[in-house]
Amino acid sequence: EKGTYPHYMLKEIDEQPIVIRNIINQYQDKNDQIKLDDDIRKAMKKTDRIYIVACGTSYHAGLVGKELIEKVAEVPVEVHIASEFSYNMPMLSEKPLFIFISQSGETADSRAVLVQVKKLGHKALTITNVPGSTLSREADYTMLLHAGPEIAVASTKAYTAQIAVLSILAADTAKAKGIDMSFDLIKELSVVSNAIEALCDQKEEFEAIAREYLSVTRNCFFIGRGMDYHVVQEGALKLKEISYIQAEGFAGGELKHGTIALIEEGTPVIALATQEHVNLSIRGNVKEVAARGAYTCTVSMKSLADEEDRVIIPDVHAYLTPLVSVIPMQLISYYAALHRDCDVDKPRNLAKSVTVE
Ligand code: M6R
Repeated sequence: EKGTYPHYMLKEIDEQPIVIRNIINQYQDKNDQIKLDDDIRKAMKKTDRIYIVACGTSYHAGLVGKELIEKVAEVPVEVHIASEFSYNMPMLSEKPLFIFISQSGETADSRAVLVQVKKLGHKALTITNVPGSTLSREADYTMLLHAGPEIAVASTKAYTAQIAVLSILAADTAKAKGIDMSFDLIKELSVVSNAIEALCDQKEEFEAIAREYLSVTRNCFFIGRGMDYHVVQEGALKLKEISYIQAEGFAGGELKHGTIALIEEGTPVIALATQEHVNLSIRGNVKEVAARGAYTCTVSMKSLADEEDRVIIPDVHAYLTPLVSVIPMQLISYYAALHRDCDVDKPRNLAKSVTVE
């Protein structure tokens, strides 16, 4: 039940700090060590390449998962949109492992791929919120999100839960392979949980930004680099699906290759700056679009913040920033939809779980 909340979406956004804590508890043993199913650990150790397959928001979580698994566990990862993969299977490595990411566990496009790869005799792990769902039953292994039911069509807490579970999978694999991790994941995830909570306490700020930037506009662009590029794609999806504003997330460096032609006087551009090694470059991109009339809003991490930045998110580990930087995207989208009188929890033309191909 949504209790005192006006919408499920807002309730589910607010639940994210608790969901992260739940995940920490579920995947930890008595000695505060990450514990995973032995079979999953073995499969992760054995594979020479991981293929992540998913749709929509779950695909965006997969993009972040690729970075985590490659950086932390040193296993190469490809991320595929399920509906593309099923008609155009890429060349597979010798020992592939498939990871299906699906909140509902019922998405037909993802299931079609699972059926294909099982026929080929490959192993599959499903990361889902729903125990006993089709994708969970038909895969060899399952990791649960422990996020509680997600009712709003726009996925919020499932995205952060998926990334948190993928980070645990990456850390466990690193340990199994004897790779020395430079940080304590469990500790860093609790820092993340507190940071999300702090942002959820600043709702007026996000409501004000939505009002100022998105009340009347027809379009909105999001830009970022590296991890931030993945998150701005999710931000754009969130905004378009519930507010019907045409929105796209772009890699900062690609602007000059075409997209910058779309910038007009007053076009809203939301930039994300949480990655130190690309901080100067993304700030250069913000200046480029501002010089062409864009109405810019920069969301940055505290240690990288400039005076003119509009939203400052607390510092967290560089690999885990998506868990925190997505919160302003979710809340800005929520308020934009609200101000535009849209049906926040049930946007037009969409279903919570897409059970047709
Ligand atoms: O249940 P799934 O995670 O497989 O669903 C995938 C997409 O349909 C879903 O993430 C969709 O993109 C959301 N409505 C986005 O908010």
